[in-house]
Amino acid sequence: MAYDVVIIGGGPGGYNAAIRAGQLGLKVACVESRKTLGGTCLNVGCIPSKALLHASEMYEKARLHFGDLGIKAKVDLDLGQMHKQKDSTVETLTKGIAFLFKKNKVEHISGHGKIIKPGVVEVTDHDGKTQTLEAKSIIIATGSEPTPLPGLEFDEKRIVSSTGALDFPKVPKHLVVVGAGVIGLELGSVWRRLGAEVTVVEFLDRILPGMDSEVAKQFKRILEKQGIAFRLGAKVTGATTTKSAVTLSVEPAKGGETEEIKCDAVLVAIGRRPFTANLGLEDVGVKTDDRGFVLTDHYKTNVEGIYALGDVTHGPMLAHKAEDEGVACIERIAGKPGHMNYDLIPSVVYTDPEVAAVGKTEDELKEAGITYKVGKFPFMANSRAKANHETDGFVKILADAETDRVLGAHIVGTGAGEMIAEVVAVMEFGGASEDIARTCHAHPTKSEAVRQAAMGVEGWTMQM
Ligand code: FAD
Ligand code: NAI
Repeated sequence: MAYDVVIIGGGPGGYNAAIRAGQLGLKVACVESRKTLGGTCLNVGCIPSKALLHASEMYEKARLHFGDLGIKAKVDLDLGQMHKQKDSTVETLTKGIAFLFKKNKVEHISGHGKIIKPGVVEVTDHDGKTQTLEAKSIIIATGSEPTPLPGLEFDEKRIVSSTGALDFPKVPKHLVVVGAGVIGLELGSVWRRLGAEVTVVEFLDRILPGMDSEVAKQFKRILEKQGIAFRLGAKVTGATTTKSAVTLSVEPAKGGETEEIKCDAVLVAIGRRPFTANLGLEDVGVKTDDRGFVLTDHYKTNVEGIYALGDVTHGPMLAHKAEDEGVACIERIAGKPGHMNYDLIPSVVYTDPEVAAVGKTEDELKEAGITYKVGKFPFMANSRAKANHETDGFVKILADAETDRVLGAHIVGTGAGEMIAEVVAVMEFGGASEDIARTCHAHPTKSEAVRQAAMGVEGWTMQM
């Protein structure tokens, strides 16, 4: 056998699996069809979107809020430079993975991988040349792609997926976003801050399905205050595109009169679907569900020696989920007890304020009939948030009514994505709200709001 493991896909799932395999002394190759490593996340996902979110947030702060702080500044937008700094961050990070591969003796094989039979992967490179790799184990980590909306084909200019929306050469005057999920709200926020009128059309009667509904409600109000318009309970049924504009047909989700919305660009962000094109799954008999997700049991597919992880499998489509699965899968292949806790995968929406969550929502606890206590604390009453003029949002801690064990945490607030890590750690150790409440938190910090919310579970919040 030439390799212990061949991994198809060099995204967070694949590259973390590869590096861990190298660390454990396995002979490993990672096949990636993109020219650079890092997958969706580094190339056209997490990283470029966060680079634009950060830059556009700075632009908006400088334009609208510096004056409040006593700073006089004349601010202009240089979109070309904003894209350049984003692209250079992406380049540095993708090169970083190539460096880590070398350091950990992972062979990077550039080209499209196809499973010919268990233990054999055929790779076709960018010049059409093929080579065959033999391996004891094969890991499918081929990720996902944007789900298209019938009638709105992506041209990545006027009708774009997230990839096109990361690269608009000029700020659209009116951007319609279809789908009030994570991508829609993050990239919608970017272009609103840079000057676009943004309308979000969402099929459901709420934003961010899956998030705690109280959080989603408050967050929607905040986004509306910032200038994003929402059309909830509505669906886009068609589009007419000319050189300079798109006219969308929109009707109520439950049916009714069609109306037209004119705009100059449309971002379709209605979810992502597993990517398994030309991978040979049918030929080798790897089972998928009716939506194309590869079915697994502890990363094992139904075919001996073939594993799958990350976005191409069930579960949240998140980089850190894929990463942790990559590590756990390799550790299992190496005969170690690879483990990950699916109940404690945090999720963050990187707008301003951010939304961060871990564990159960109140809606889920109610539905499961679990009795729980709630502690809440608004950032309006947090001294650091006041000093920073970042008072939007609140922290909510949910704890078991009998045992006080923390069951969930939901935060809307600037920096929520960093604050949630404390609660994840406490929950990972089976901690109680009192554990957070009696832990000394530095003052003045926004994380004190997490502590105050935890105190609130037993009704002894002190700063409100
Ligand atoms: P991917 O990252 O999709 O990697 C799969 C790789 O496999 C790709 O590079 C692909 O080219 C390659 N490939 C596919 N088929 C083959 C083949 N046959 N042969 C060779 N190579 C192949 N998640 C977060 O946690 N936080 C965020 O902030 C975040 N932001 C996002 C923003 C956007 C705009 C998008 C689109 C996604 C974002 N995500 C975020 C989701 C995150 O990018 C994915 O969950 C993550 O990349 C999944 O990792 P993966 O390794 O499973 O797949
Ligand atoms: P999503 O699943 O988060 O949201 C899609 C939204 O579109 C939902 O609200 C859904 O109800 C709505 N929708 C579906 N069909 C519709 C239709 N026909 N008309 C109108 N609305 C419709 O998917 P999204 O935003 O595309 O993101 C894809 C994935 O990428 C997510 O699963 C997410 O995990 C990941 N991601 C994560 C980020 C993060 O962690 N910060 C950032 C960006 C993406």
